[in-house]
Amino acid sequence: MLVMKAIALVPALAVVALAGMVFAQDPPKEPAKTTKLDFKKDIIPIIKANCISCHNKDKAEHNVMFPDKMTEEDALKNARMWRNSAREVKKGSMPPKNNGTMGDKDRAKLVEWIEAKIPRPARRPGGTTPPPTTPPPTTTGGN
Ligand code: HEC
Repeated sequence: MLVMKAIALVPALAVVALAGMVFAQDPPKEPAKTTKLDFKKDIIPIIKANCISCHNKDKAEHNVMFPDKMTEEDALKNARMWRNSAREVKKGSMPPKNNGTMGDKDRAKLVEWIEAKIPRPARRPGGTTPPPTTPPPTTTGGN
């Protein structure tokens, strides 16, 4: 009976999926995220609209500064600042709540681009332990 066989397969698949999840917690190499977003076309306008008023060369809050003429190369060099930006935007703490609203789409785009282009540094095998990663925010959606 084909149907019985198919049903018997379900738990087996579940086990495989579960094992996959367990092992995925410490993958030998994180699968690279990809993005179709373009720095110039998609990212610069988001930064200009939402961030640059407080983070520019004249007023660099918290030493975070987005230059007038942003380039992708420049962003890759300032990896830490950009990764922090993704973190803050994800948490919802940037831009500050009293300062306009940043659309969810723009948040998602900015985070997507940063995570794809500026991933966290790979764990060094056997070397010094990497700095602890900040736990994800405990709230689920909403503010
Ligand atoms: C209204 C002004 C304002 C805007 C707009 C703004 N920021 Fe900030 N930002 C601040 C201030 C003030 C701080 C430092 C105090 C703090 O951490 O709350 C800060 C801190 C930061 C930090 C450092 C946080 C840390 O603890 O390391 C990052 C990264 C950052 N902002 C990114 C952004 C990004 C990305 C945007 C746009 C999506 C943005 N900010 C928009 C005012 C602003």
